[in-house]
Amino acid sequence: MSNDVPHGWSPESWQSRPAVQQPVYPDAEALRLALAELARLPPLVTSWEVNNLKAQLAEAQAGSRFVLQGGDCAESFADCESALIANRLKVLLQMSLVLVHGLRKRVVRIGRFAGQYAKPRSADTETRGGVTLPCYRGDLVNAPEFTETARAADPQRLLEGHKRSALTMNFTRGLIDGGFADLHHPEYWNLDWVEHVVHANEYRQRVEAIGESLRFIETLAGQTISDFNRVEFYTSHEALLLHAEAAQTRRVPRQPGWYNLSTHFPWIGMRTAAVDGAHVEYCRGIRNPIGVKVGQAMSAEWVLQLCELLNPANEPGRLVLIHRMGAARIAQYLPPLIEAVRAKGHRVLWLCDPMHGNTQTLANGLKTRAFADILAEIEQAFALHAGCGSQLGGVHLELTGEHVTECLGGARDLSASDLERAYRSAVDPRLNYEQALELALRIVSIKGAAGTA
Ligand code: PEP
Ligand code: CO
Repeated sequence: MSNDVPHGWSPESWQSRPAVQQPVYPDAEALRLALAELARLPPLVTSWEVNNLKAQLAEAQAGSRFVLQGGDCAESFADCESALIANRLKVLLQMSLVLVHGLRKRVVRIGRFAGQYAKPRSADTETRGGVTLPCYRGDLVNAPEFTETARAADPQRLLEGHKRSALTMNFTRGLIDGGFADLHHPEYWNLDWVEHVVHANEYRQRVEAIGESLRFIETLAGQTISDFNRVEFYTSHEALLLHAEAAQTRRVPRQPGWYNLSTHFPWIGMRTAAVDGAHVEYCRGIRNPIGVKVGQAMSAEWVLQLCELLNPANEPGRLVLIHRMGAARIAQYLPPLIEAVRAKGHRVLWLCDPMHGNTQTLANGLKTRAFADILAEIEQAFALHAGCGSQLGGVHLELTGEHVTECLGGARDLSASDLERAYRSAVDPRLNYEQALELALRIVSIKGAAGTA
């Protein structure tokens, strides 16, 4: 049995540990009924997809693939809409093609969607004009309006979230199966922005080269790319609301252990990564690959304990450490962690989240991130890993396929005064379509310049 389920673990064993960031549901019976329904509904993903992703993450760790993980900071129920889903998929596919071409590696594509509906918050309550209410924790929990009714945690939202995740998955799978992969062709790309950058020639040449490569392959095969290139796409979300995650954790015929079948790749956020906490307890027992966010406050000892708890068998592809230090701090805080993990022989895949350590608040109160900081953190991450004999296996980004103005800089050099024009995020600022595509192009030039592509 020890191979099957870790000692002392069950889908509910997390309840004996301190569980931070959980809503208080005023109606316990309503919560019980909603969870029972959630446990009965068909799952969003399958165990063989989860196993395939784990095998691909193991290849990324061995250096033969690169991971592109991206999507909204938080999805909203209102954004479960065809154009938004299609545009997000489009930018992720286009970025992945740039990365495949430039890095000469297959790319593992992981969306931050179809379940990214709950957010950790810095305070449990919010006070306005002398009135204190529970904080807004994402559409999976409550509504953002500042009223008692809106802010009450409503278990029916867990079912609504499952439904909208299923709609998102269904449409995503349909687009991919139906030849949406044609969007790989640069003819479909929106590249007007390229003329605004110093790297314009390099970008144009790269995109032309991608087009030529595709036409060459198609001529050779006598088929269009969408006929033989079955794109794989995986989903991920922060495993935050443990009641809901546990309700979607299942046994599968002829497979050992338990799988979280609400997503392929759940991750533990920085605020919930305590070694003796409920989130680590829950995640240690499921078979999915697990991500953990690693901030500057995490000591080497803490990271090593996480490796032992979450991957005691040292299984490749199981544990993904997603560092998010900030461009100004990564050089100081990352190398000791890489060294410590390497010295103990832990097999982990390292990803860089260049978003969450680079958030700033402007004088007008808007939260933003500068493209230059995001790029600088990624650039340093590649070099720091190489310097420690390790490798950066991918990036974790907050982005959208829309033309929002939430992050500063990029080809159009968005300034603080541009941001109000199309700032749509209710939580963290995202790269827009152009900034996201440009970032992929920059990543391949960094690697090209380092001579390691
Ligand atoms: C996030 O990914 O949106 C997030 C909250 O990240 P972190 O846990 O790294 O702060
Ligand atoms: Co975020």
